Amino acid sequence: MKSNKTIKWGIIGLGKIAHQFATDLAKVTNAELYAVASRTQEKADNFSQKFNPEVGYDSYEKLVRDPQVDAIYIATPHSLHKGNTLLCLQNKKAVLCEKPFAMNLQEVEEMITIAKENDVLLMEALWTHFLPHYNYVLELLKSEKFGSIKKLEADFGFKLAFDLNNRLFNKEVGGGSLLDIGIYPIFAALSTLGNPDSINANATFFENKADSSCDIVFNYKDAKAVLKSTLLEETKTEAIFTLTNAIVKVNSRFHEPSTVTIITDGKEETLDFGYNTIGYSYEIEHFNQLLRDGKKESDIMTFDFSKNLIKTLDTVRKIIGLEY
Ligand SMILES: NC(=O)c1ccc[n+]([C@@H]2O[C@H](COP(=O)([O-])OP(=O)(O)OC[C@H]3O[C@@H](n4cnc5c(N)ncnc54)[C@H](OP(=O)(O)O)[C@@H]3O)[C@@H](O)[C@H]2O)c1
Repeated sequence: MKSNKTIKWGIIGLGKIAHQFATDLAKVTNAELYAVASRTQEKADNFSQKFNPEVGYDSYEKLVRDPQVDAIYIATPHSLHKGNTLLCLQNKKAVLCEKPFAMNLQEVEEMITIAKENDVLLMEALWTHFLPHYNYVLELLKSEKFGSIKKLEADFGFKLAFDLNNRLFNKEVGGGSLLDIGIYPIFAALSTLGNPDSINANATFFENKADSSCDIVFNYKDAKAVLKSTLLEETKTEAIFTLTNAIVKVNSRFHEPSTVTIITDGKEETLDFGYNTIGYSYEIEHFNQLLRDGKKESDIMTFDFSKNLIKTLDTVRKIIGLEY
């Protein structure tokens, strides 16, 4: 592929996050929203009016068969990620699939196997991993400038009225706090402290058995990660690292474009990263470059990292008794 080739994107599933993604895609150079696909023509048309792709399909199958499409962004509920991803891969389309990558490790492994068999690029869209403020923190922690990590406290919570029409609460499509937002505090722990030696977890549940909140502790030899997800209350949604000689705060909301505060020797400094997109542009640019370079796997969001993330979610689910 030419080094500046314009990547022609398609989107599957035209809900909330698809709108955000399309807004940021418009700001990325050498990339365009070429096609969108919905289960209904009406939704495809409405979306097309806002974002102006060349084609708006009334089925996901039609999109994956379009020879013009280079890359497909999957923005459907969790339980559909595997099926939608396989549909794309088997039609030789590169896939950027929303988090969680799938419902469990077995599904993720199948997706990776099919990507390899078809020799097609596949990546989990865990956007935080591509954001400059988060990468700054990763580098700072790795340098051990302020010593080692003693404690991480990370949370993600908001309150919404229970509504089975909202995928967040609908267990049939993977609803519940852990897979939807608990994945971010868990990502914060895995990306900085690595795998814990042991895990403690407790959850509360809605009547339909989707988890309404989840409190998790990752125990490490010399550190602890105290993690929380909840759909029952607004929480700060910060990631606070207590180091030997400083506190590093990834300010609210830590998983999206944000600032970082470093507190050391009684001094406090807040760093601003000058974001001018919603934040999805970074994963898009990375993915476009992988595609142009002929890569089949990201060197940032690697298959091993995605497998470890879903495996950890599987473990927490087992502890709290959350089955899908
Ligand atoms: N990275 C992030 O910041 C972020 C933020 C929010 C969500 N997400 C992830 O993105 C995915 C979608 O989230 P969302 O908030 O955009 O959800 P949403 O608003 O409910 O949209 C999901 C879309 O999937 C399609 N769909 C296909 N089958 C469906 C079914 N059985 N039930 C419901 N929708 C179905 C629908 O599009 P059509 O009718 O057009 O086919 C629907 O609009 C989730 O996996 C979530 O974890 C990521």
